[in-house]
Amino acid sequence: METEKSTARKRADEIKDYRCKNLIAVIEEPNDIRNIGTVIRNVNALGVEKTYIVDSRKALPDGWEEMRERKSLTKPSVSAIKWSFVKRFDSTEDCLDHLQKNRFASVVTSPHVKGKDNRILHETDYTTYTKLAVWFGNESRGISDIAVDRSEFCVSIPMFGMIESLNLGTTSGIVLYEITKQRRAYQMKYKRANRGPNKSSSAGS
Ligand SMILES: C[S@@+](CC[C@H](N)C(=O)[O-])C[C@H]1O[C@@H](n2cnc3c(N)ncnc32)[C@H](O)[C@@H]1O
Repeated sequence: METEKSTARKRADEIKDYRCKNLIAVIEEPNDIRNIGTVIRNVNALGVEKTYIVDSRKALPDGWEEMRERKSLTKPSVSAIKWSFVKRFDSTEDCLDHLQKNRFASVVTSPHVKGKDNRILHETDYTTYTKLAVWFGNESRGISDIAVDRSEFCVSIPMFGMIESLNLGTTSGIVLYEITKQRRAYQMKYKRANRGPNKSSSAGS
């Protein structure tokens, strides 16, 4: 038991600097518990700080301790939920208000053109907002109009097949990979610059 704890502590120390601070993945009204587990797994593996879930059906328990006990969540997330911060909201508005109060900018994802500003995943800079929430929509309805209206822009993964959209869990992996890659590089650059030999001289100028 002690060894398991110290191995986990060691790993937590190793990955600490690589986690993306102030980055939240939001899943809006997911229907399929396996998709929730997959998103949480991707969030954990890619170093995203938190997962928020809009769950107006109240399908999930309120407290995260209780969520961590749910077999239906621990299994598809391969226990990632045990190491993740997950918070649920009763409505999209509640979640957006909470994010706004904490100065998070939201971006939404969709296979379709939504809102006024539409961007291609890999042609977009995700380092301009210090605090960023990335929204993923419901499996059949997609992202809501309210979330689109209150977001900065909508991101799409280009599609070249006959089907309309990618699966929610798959999308979260692709989108969060690109965003964490950019934000991690930015964090590292900023950190190095702050540690650099010229820090004291530039700070005085
Ligand atoms: C199965 S899709 C929903 C399809 C739905 N009919 C729609 O109109 O969006 C579930 C979610 O995955 C994300 N998604 C799927 N394909 C995407 C793509 N090509 N680009 C960006 N996001 C995508 C979006 O967040 C979407 O709301």
